[in-house]
Amino acid sequence: MTISAADAPLDPQSTEILAATGLEYRLVTGDAFDGFVTAVDRGFNGERAPEERVRAWRENLDGTERSVGVYDPRSPETGTPVATVMSWLMDLTVDADSFLPMWSISEVTVAATHRRRGIARALLGGELRAAADAGLPIAGLTVSEATIYGRFGFGPAAHTVSWTIDTRRAGWAGPRPTEGEDPGRLDHIEREQLAQDLATLNERTRGSRPGDISGWPLLWQELAGLKPGKPDPKVRGVRYTDAEGEVRGVVAYTVETNPEDFAKATIHVNALTAETSDAYAALWRYLLQHDLVGTVITGLRSRGEPLRWMVADERAITVTERDHHWLRILDVQRCLGARRLRVPGSATFVVTDPFGFAEGTWRLEVDDAGAPSVQKVDAGAASGSVVRLGVAELSAMLLGGVTASTLRAAGRVDTDEETARWLDLAFLPITAPSLSYWY
Ligand SMILES: CC(C)(COP(=O)(O)OP(=O)(O)OC[C@H]1O[C@@H](n2cnc3c(N)ncnc32)[C@H](O)[C@@H]1OP(=O)(O)O)[C@@H](O)C(=O)NCCC(=O)NCCS
Repeated sequence: MTISAADAPLDPQSTEILAATGLEYRLVTGDAFDGFVTAVDRGFNGERAPEERVRAWRENLDGTERSVGVYDPRSPETGTPVATVMSWLMDLTVDADSFLPMWSISEVTVAATHRRRGIARALLGGELRAAADAGLPIAGLTVSEATIYGRFGFGPAAHTVSWTIDTRRAGWAGPRPTEGEDPGRLDHIEREQLAQDLATLNERTRGSRPGDISGWPLLWQELAGLKPGKPDPKVRGVRYTDAEGEVRGVVAYTVETNPEDFAKATIHVNALTAETSDAYAALWRYLLQHDLVGTVITGLRSRGEPLRWMVADERAITVTERDHHWLRILDVQRCLGARRLRVPGSATFVVTDPFGFAEGTWRLEVDDAGAPSVQKVDAGAASGSVVRLGVAELSAMLLGGVTASTLRAAGRVDTDEETARWLDLAFLPITAPSLSYWY
């Protein structure tokens, strides 16, 4: 198996499709990366990146990423591609301490001057074929719009929630780990330390969050306000250290003051990672009981979090839920095989896949210990508990973020009620799937 996306060759099929419309499909290396960044920033309606940011981005590439550009030889800006995509490998948490290497796709842009003529379709097809050829079992992305990627076989596998919390109404009814005997403590830390702690704590905790990822160095710097070329001096860091002196949690946030009323500032949480319940409670209490703050806003939290049970009035928390982590199964056997299923039993999946990777009839047997075994079988062997579905639906179900019964009721999965109920139980996640970051 290829272990670096950078080693994956360009997909001949996409090269041919794009060449037929006079476009060149190329790997982006060396100085060409500057034009790539220009195209990405323009594609996402951003400003021109300062030289320092382009340089830092280039310097922070570790050589395992694959950047691909589509160039229009007739364009006056010959160095700027009309479409971009970048991919690299990250670990995806599938179940408790069970991970899969994931082809992570980002920076998908097509210039507004070249939209809706099949360029993104060629790019996505090229990524999926490259990933499958390299032996990757799954691809993933976070999306600007929920309407784009279903047609390519991606399903929303982890929904996340945003909270807007009225701190005075919320109160605090949870544990107070910084008080009493053997208390833990809270401390402000500098942004460099904050970036380090975010990375360390993510590494220690991601195995318990299905849908979460291993991340990359620049991510921690950005969350800590150290984005090269665009630092954010407003970012603050606070960490929780337990009675034994071990750092167990960290929060990165900014405070937006309110010129109309000094006592009604708003805290925006960039990231909060806690390894223990004490760290979680201490950091949330810190945020909710911060002087001069009336509102705390945070995104990308899991649906399964305990915070609402820690405040005095849960109606102080306004919750907005949204699709966030989209996954795309490429190898059914390895993806289902990475789950720990909760009840024994069996089912036969008849999967359709517009790109063919997951297409086929797959027999899933779960033993008494919850270990799955998945075999490809002849289409004629589909009898008994048969589940007919598309690869996007199977991908959405993989982490247990949506149940088979829900998809059945929505007309997205065809199976009998009993089989759907078994799948609901079998695929129960250790906690609601989530993803704490964008990529
Ligand atoms: C989204 C984007 C990449 C699409 O590129 P494109 O080259 O115009 O897309 P294509 O012409 O290849 O379209 C492929 C299919 O997706 C559909 N599609 C494209 N953009 C879509 C959108 N924003 N919403 C819904 N469907 C969309 C097309 O209708 C087409 O459907 P079909 O092939 O099933 O008939 C491009 O509009 C873009 O760069 N947008 C701004 C940046 C962005 O949001 N990127 C995505 C980041 S996650």
